[in-house]
Amino acid sequence: MKKTQSLKKNSFKLFRFVVVLVGLIGLMGLSGSLFSATVSISTGSVGKDVEALRTYLDMWEKDTGNTARIVTLPASTTDQFGQYKIWLGNKNSDIDVYLLDVIWAPQINQHFIDLSRAFSKEAKEHFPAIIASQTIGKKLVAIPFFTDAPMLYYRKDLLSKYNTKPPKNWEELKSIAKIIQNGERAAGNEKMWGFVFQGNAYEGLTCDALEWINSYGGGSIVDARGQITVNNPSAVKAIDFMATFVGDISPPGVLTYQEEEARGVWQLGNAVFMRNWPYAYSLGNSSDSAVRKKFDVVTLPRGTTPNSKSAATLGGWNLGISEYSKNKEAAISLVKFLAGKKIQKLNAVNLSKLPTLPALYEDKEVLKAAPFFATMKDVLAEAVGRPSGPTQKKYNEVSKEFWTAVHAVLAGDKNAKTSLAELERKLKRVRGRKW
Ligand code: GLC
Repeated sequence: MKKTQSLKKNSFKLFRFVVVLVGLIGLMGLSGSLFSATVSISTGSVGKDVEALRTYLDMWEKDTGNTARIVTLPASTTDQFGQYKIWLGNKNSDIDVYLLDVIWAPQINQHFIDLSRAFSKEAKEHFPAIIASQTIGKKLVAIPFFTDAPMLYYRKDLLSKYNTKPPKNWEELKSIAKIIQNGERAAGNEKMWGFVFQGNAYEGLTCDALEWINSYGGGSIVDARGQITVNNPSAVKAIDFMATFVGDISPPGVLTYQEEEARGVWQLGNAVFMRNWPYAYSLGNSSDSAVRKKFDVVTLPRGTTPNSKSAATLGGWNLGISEYSKNKEAAISLVKFLAGKKIQKLNAVNLSKLPTLPALYEDKEVLKAAPFFATMKDVLAEAVGRPSGPTQKKYNEVSKEFWTAVHAVLAGDKNAKTSLAELERKLKRVRGRKW
C-alpha cells in the first residue's frame, strides 16, 4: 500500500517536472522569437561574394541569436538599381538591409533611414570622402562596406617572354597587346586576346569610358558645377581610339562583357591585359585559375594628350537600412558588424576588396594577401567620381545616355564626334532648367 502510494507520489513529481520543463522550453522559444529577429540583406554578386557573405552572417547569427537571410540579385549594378527602385517604390518591407552602389545615395536616399546617430562613432573611422558621398543634406544614407578603384591586370609571364614592361599609355597598351596576341596565336593559342574590359551597355561601361576620357584630359561628363562638358576634342579622341580595340586587340564579344565575362576570359589565360576592379585579384590567384601567380596589377594607362594622366573611376558599396524595414534595430546591429574592422579585414584578405577603414591599408595580413593595396590609398585619393552628385536624381539617365553613346561608337555605328555631339544635346534635354 505504502509502496503504491510512494510510486504514485513519484510519478506525480515526474509529471510535474516534465510539465515545468516543457513550459520552460516553450517560454524560451517564445522569448527567442520575441527578442530575436530575421533580417534580410539584398546584394548583387561577383565571384565568391555570396558565399563569403553567408559566412559573415553565420558569425553574426551566432553572436546575436538573430537570423539573417540573403536575397541575391544579378551581378549588373544597372539591373540591381532597376529592381531596387521597384521594391522601394512599393515600400517593400521584406528587405531590411540593401547593399548600395556608391552612386545611388542622391537618387534613392528618401527610402533609407538616417544612420548619423546610430553610427556617430563608426562614421568617423571610415574615409571621410566616402562618408561625404553617402551624406545627403544631414542624412547619412549608408555606411561603407568596401570601396573600389580599378587596375590594369597584366600577364607578368607573357610580358617578360616578349621582353616588355606594363604600358604607360593606351597607345602602348594597344601595341604591346597586339604583339603578344599575335605571337601567342602563332604559338598555338588561337583564343588569345590582347585586352578585355567592360564594353556592355550598362553602368560598367560608364566607369570604363569615364576613365578613357578623363585620362585624355577630357573631363568627367558633367563637371562639379553641373556643366555638361562631355563633348570635347580630348573625349572624342579617347573614345575613337578605344573603338579601334574592338575586333583587333579585344574580342568583338567585349561589347557584351561585364566584369565577370572579362574575368572569365582572363582567368582562362586568354588575355594579356584586363581592366577590372580589385576583386579579380584574389580570384585570379585561386587554385582553379589558369593565371594563378602569373599576373600583377598596375595603375591604368594614361592618355596621349598633353594633359593626360592615369584615371580610375571611384566605385564601392555601402550598407543602407530601408525605411520600410520592420527590424531596424537588428538591421543596425548587422550593419555595424558587416562594416566593422573584423569583416572588412576578412573581405580584404579573402576577396581582395578594398577596405574603407584607412588603418587596414597598413595591416600585415592584408598586405600579404594583396601587396598592391599598399598603393591603393593614393589611387583612391586621385580616383575620378562619376557625376552622381551634380546630376542628383537624374544621374541614372545621364549615365544611360553616356554608355549608350559610347557603345554606339564601340560598335562602329557612329564616330565619337557625332555621338558625343548628340549626347550633349540629349543631356541638355535631360537636365532641362536644372539637374
Ligand atoms: C563595381 C563598382 C561600382 C560600379 C560597378 C559598375 O561594382 O564598385 O561602383 O558601379 O562596378 O559595374
